[in-house]
Amino acid sequence: MHFYMEPGGKLTGRIRVPGDKSMSHRAIMLGSIAEGRTNVSGFLEGEDALATLAAFREMGVEISDPLAGEVVIEGVGLRGLRPPTRVMDVGNSGTSIRLMAGLLAGQPFDSIVTGDASLLRRPMARVITPLSQMGALIRSREGCPPLEIEGGRALSGIHYDLPVASAQVKSCLLLAGLFAEGRTSVTEPAPTRDHTERMLQGFGYEVERDGKLIGLEGGGTLRGANIDIPADISSATFFMVGASIAPGSDLVLEHVGMNPTRDGVVRILRAMGANIELINERNVGGEPVADVRVRSANLKGIEIPEAEVPLAIDELPAVLIAAACAEGETVLSGAEELRVKESDRIASMADGLTQLGITNSVLPDGIRVVGGELRGGVISTHQDHRIAMSFAMAALRASDRIKISDCAHVSTSFPGFAELAVEVGLRLQVAEE
Ligand code: S3P
Repeated sequence: MHFYMEPGGKLTGRIRVPGDKSMSHRAIMLGSIAEGRTNVSGFLEGEDALATLAAFREMGVEISDPLAGEVVIEGVGLRGLRPPTRVMDVGNSGTSIRLMAGLLAGQPFDSIVTGDASLLRRPMARVITPLSQMGALIRSREGCPPLEIEGGRALSGIHYDLPVASAQVKSCLLLAGLFAEGRTSVTEPAPTRDHTERMLQGFGYEVERDGKLIGLEGGGTLRGANIDIPADISSATFFMVGASIAPGSDLVLEHVGMNPTRDGVVRILRAMGANIELINERNVGGEPVADVRVRSANLKGIEIPEAEVPLAIDELPAVLIAAACAEGETVLSGAEELRVKESDRIASMADGLTQLGITNSVLPDGIRVVGGELRGGVISTHQDHRIAMSFAMAALRASDRIKISDCAHVSTSFPGFAELAVEVGLRLQVAEE
C-alpha cells in the first residue's frame, strides 16, 4: 500500500487520534494477570496492541473483541495463565515481545514468541541478559527473536542498572519481578516512560519509585481496574508537526496523553518556535491529559537537548520533518537507540530527506538537518510506520508530489491515519497495489 501526496494544504479542525499504544499493551497484560474484571476504554485497535491481545487469549484469558475502544478482560490472576498451544506471533511489536519475555519467564510453562521480518532483526539481549540473572532460561537466534522461554524456572529478584534508557527493558524486568522471589529493582540512566509503574499502581500493586530507582516485591496481587487510555501523543505528533509547518493551519488534537515522560516533543517543538497551546489540562485515570491546539509558526533549527531524547524517542522522525522546514540547522545527538527501532530511523530519515533535497549528515548517534525547500520525490518507508507518517506531513511544504512506498505498517500504530489526515486537510491518496 502506498500514499500519494499532492503538495501543499493546511491542517484545520478538531480530531482525536487513536489510543496510546504503550498503555494499550500494558492494559491487556496487567488486566490479564489481575484478579477480576478490567474494563478498558480508549484501547488502540492497531495491529501491535491487537497482537498482545491475541497472545493473552492464546494463554486462556477471556478478552472481549474491542468495540469502539472498549475492551473487557476477565483477569486470571498472577498464576492463572495457561500454556499456549502454538507459537505466539506478535508481528511488528517490540513492546509485546520484550514485555512478554519478562512475564513469560516466570510461568510454569514453556512458550515461544516470534514476529515479522523487522522484529526478527531487533535486539533481545537487552532483556535476555538481566532475565537470565534472575534465573530465566531464554533461547534466541543470536540475540534476536524468536524467543524460546523455558517455563518452571524459579526467578529471584535482582537489582539491575539499565545500560540503556529503555522503558521496554525496565517494564520487562518489573513484570518478571511480579513472579520472582523477593525484590526486583532497576535504575534508569535517564527517565523513560513510566506507564508500567503507573498502571501497576492503578491495579493496586505497590511500586517503589525513588528518583532513578524503581522497585517492587514479587508475589503480590493485582486487582481488576477501569483503565481509560488517552489519545497517543506519538500519533498526535505527526499532526503537531504538520500544523506547525503548513501555513494557515489551526488544529486541535483532543484528549492527548501528556505524561511528563512522553511530552518531550512539545518542549522540542516549542524550542523550535512552534505555537502549541495545551487546553483543559486534566488528570484521567492517573495520567495527565490535554487538548492540544497547534497553529502554524516559523520554526528555527535547534540543538535538541539529549535529555529530551528518551522522552521523545518515537517522535524524533517527525521532529526531523519540522527541522527540514525550519530556518537553520537542527542537530540530534544521543539518539543511537533510533537505529534499533522498527527500522534504522536515522538512516531511514536521512534517506528520505535526501530524496526531498534536504541537506543532512548522519552522525553515529543522530543526524544534522539543514532546513530548506522540500521538493517532491519517492520515499521508502523501510516498512516503518513512523517514517511513513512523518513524510506524509512533509508534503504540506513540498513543491511537488511525493510518493511514499510501502505504507501498510501504518496500521500497526495508527489505524485510520489516511482518513483522519484527509479530514483535516492532507492531500493524501491511498493506492492499494
Ligand atoms: C515503548 C518504549 C520505547 C518506544 C516503543 C514503546 C514502550 O522503546 O520506542 O515504541 O511501550 O515501553 P524503548 O523503551 O526500548 O526505547
